[in-house]
Order: sequence, then C-alpha cells, then structure tokens
Amino acid sequence: MTEESFWDLYWETRLGFLQGQGKGHAILAASRIIRSNPFQPMRILELGCGEGQILGALVQAHPQASNIQESIGVDYDLGSLETARKDYPGIQFIHGDFTNREFLTNLGNFDLILLVNALHHVYSDAYDEELGEVDVPTAKTQVREAFIAILERLNSGGSLLLFDGLEMDGDTRRPVEIRFLQAEAQEAFHQFAREYQPFRIRFTAGALHAHKDTIQLSIRDFTRYVTKLIFLGKPLWERERLESYQYFNQEEMLNLFQENSLILTEKQLISVDLQRWQEEIEILSPDIDFPIEHILLIGKKM
Ligand SMILES: C[S@@+](CC[C@H](N)C(=O)[O-])C[C@H]1O[C@@H](n2cnc3c(N)ncnc32)[C@H](O)[C@@H]1O
Repeated sequence: MTEESFWDLYWETRLGFLQGQGKGHAILAASRIIRSNPFQPMRILELGCGEGQILGALVQAHPQASNIQESIGVDYDLGSLETARKDYPGIQFIHGDFTNREFLTNLGNFDLILLVNALHHVYSDAYDEELGEVDVPTAKTQVREAFIAILERLNSGGSLLLFDGLEMDGDTRRPVEIRFLQAEAQEAFHQFAREYQPFRIRFTAGALHAHKDTIQLSIRDFTRYVTKLIFLGKPLWERERLESYQYFNQEEMLNLFQENSLILTEKQLISVDLQRWQEEIEILSPDIDFPIEHILLIGKKM
C-alpha cells in the first residue's frame, strides 16, 4: 500500500475527526517502518494507547506483517480501554501503568514501541498540590526513568517512536506579544488562562500596542496555549487542563535517545495547527514565530 492510499483510507474515512491533534504524523511514520521491513516480525507495543486509534489503524492496515496480531495496547484508563476493545476486538488491550517496570517485563519483547502523546503524562503526573505547578526536576527524572524501563522491552533492531509536545529552545521566559484577531479567540484565551493548571498562564496587557486585544506572555505559556486550546470546552478538558504536553526541548529529547544508545532514524518538528493560529492571532514581537510545539523522533535499538 502506498503512503497516499494508506492516508486516504485511514485518515479521510476513519480518522478525520482527529484533525488538528497531530496523530496522523505518528500513524504514517509507524506505517512506513512496518512497510519498509516486510520480512521482520512486527509485534507492536503502544503505551498510553487511549482508545486504540493508532494501534488499531496500524494493525488493520498491515494484517500481513508477521506477529502484528500479537501487538498490545496498554493504558491505565479503564474507560478508554473499554472503547478500544469494542472498536478493535482482535487486539489485546491491557490495563496497567507503563511506568511500572515489573508490569512491562511481563508483556514480553516488541519490535516497535509507540509512545504517542503519552510520555508527557509521566511529567504531568508530578504535579505538586502545594507548588500549584509541576515539580519540574522530579518530573524530568521520572520521564527519563520511565523511558529507560520502556526501552528494555524493545528487541535489538527494533524501533521506538516518540511523538509528543516540544518545549521551545532557549530561555522559555522570553516574552512574546500577541494580538487576537477574533473576539472569540480572545475570550477563549482568558478562559484557558483561568482554568489551565500545570503552569499558571501569566500575562499582562501588551506594552507595544496599548489595545485591550493585545497581551504579552512568555514563550513557555504561549506554547502551552497553542497546544492545549483544542481541548477547551470538550469532555477531555477536565483531564487535559491538568497536563503539560511540553517537558523537554529539542536538545533534551535528542539526549534522551542518545544517552540510551538509540540510533536516530527520523526527526520531524511539527506545528500541529499552524493555519488555525495564523487566522486567530497576530504575533507583534519581531523575530518570534508560532512555536514548533510537537516533535516526532524514531530511534533504532542496535
Ligand atoms: C493523550 S492520550 C493519547 C492516546 C493515544 N496514544 C493517542 O494518541 O491516540 C494519553 C493516554 O496515556 C494514558 N496514560 C498516561 N500515563 C499512563 C501510564 N503511566 N500508564 C498507562 N497509561 C497511561 C492516559 O490514560 C491516556 O489514555
């Protein structure tokens, strides 16, 4: 199946409702790995599989791949697993915590491991009630430890695909001034700033243009806003407002792979919903652009 026909079949007919979430990049990249290794066993492990849309699409699209029917999806959310089992009855979905090394060991070994929008949960789970924010050093250590345990489950020659939020490089406190081009966008921002938790969204009235539709905020907060706003007002918001998709910048992400001896085979930097943001917001600060807020990395275990 060519890249185009895979896309047509699974995106336009089945996954169109995921538009704007970036999962399409992960599905396509995983599909490329499967198709470029037609004789290699392809038992997949998706950690934090949610409702199984990614694993389900991959198994259904590549039924000929050896061992793919023995793939496993893992999640600690029972409601999501129930949906996954109903939608993809041929696939094994297991309830468990992927930060638990013993639990992972019992699943066996895999040829392809997917971490799609999942590792940021480990970071966000280090939310500290007293601090009112994520405890950053603890959270980063927990992400690194989880990653090491996960890699133990990957066969030599196998690949790990990580798709997740990306923190901007440099000083993330540097300010950006923006102007809302639509009243609804401005209202949504204020609601977002009130309700989002892992990092308090702090902003002031714009300095350069003293209009009430301009504000100044840090690059860090701006990045979280453009990544997360898609969930505001949706059923998932109650959970999503407690999570930060961003935890590592590009250098930290690449180090994670390098330190664990993964050979980097693919890197994509992605602004998931750039067109929408260009319609809603004007960036007034010179030399600042919309953030690249997601990263896709694939590494091979030697
Ligand atoms: C944002 S969803 C992504 C779902 C899926 N990978 C996708 O992109 O369609 C993240 C999922 O990871 C699960 N999760 C987070 N931390 C987990 C952990 N430590 N163990 C198992 N599941 C976890 C959550 O319950 C949630 O369903």
